Amino acid sequence: MEFYTTISILSSDFSEVKKTLREAEEAGAAMIHWDVMDGCFVPNLTFGAKFIDDCRKHTGLIFDTHLMITSPQTKVAPFLNSSDIVTFHYEAIPAGAENLIKEIHLAGKKVGISINPSTDPVVLHPYLTKLDFVLLMAVEPGRGGQKLNENVYERLKILTEMRRQANALFSITVDGGVDGNNATALRQNGADGVVLGTSFVNAHDKKKLIETVSVI
Ligand code: DX5
Ligand code: ZN
Repeated sequence: MEFYTTISILSSDFSEVKKTLREAEEAGAAMIHWDVMDGCFVPNLTFGAKFIDDCRKHTGLIFDTHLMITSPQTKVAPFLNSSDIVTFHYEAIPAGAENLIKEIHLAGKKVGISINPSTDPVVLHPYLTKLDFVLLMAVEPGRGGQKLNENVYERLKILTEMRRQANALFSITVDGGVDGNNATALRQNGADGVVLGTSFVNAHDKKKLIETVSVI
């Protein structure tokens, strides 16, 4: 898979979501990144599965759903309708993610686990060969527009080495604070793709931003 961008609508005007979807598609993005926040796992509250379902008919882009919610194992079902990728947080299910991974795969969807900047990637060891994605947070989850945490570069190196040793095949997406200036370094350190949120919403030339990010 070539280096991909997935567009977070979090910093956009939700009342104009159709416009944002169209802009992402026209700019050449691969996916739409839906930041689902429940006000418990993170203080912010965004939207539920119905919002994503209602947007499904407006674009052919891949739907990459990022669940920043508590107890994802009990709440995941509605998100299996329209999402192509469902990513939950390790921190929300430390007791074991095997069953949730199985449930998402049984629904024919790809599965990802996300870890916060302070979570040691080693916690993912039991799941490495079962995952399609690891969403490596470069900011504390809950808000858009934050500055990328520089520890993500070292974490990328650790995670790519873990993947090599496990002969695993998951893709690594970096999420949070990514823009046209740091995307190349992220890619050089092992990222397979990035989430663009505020940098995309604010970009004057969105197509140029995605081209910049996608070319090493
Ligand atoms: C933060 C979200 C990110 C964020 C990315 O909790 O998971 O996807 O919206 O937005 P920027 O690119 O603005 O950091
Ligand atoms: Zn996200």
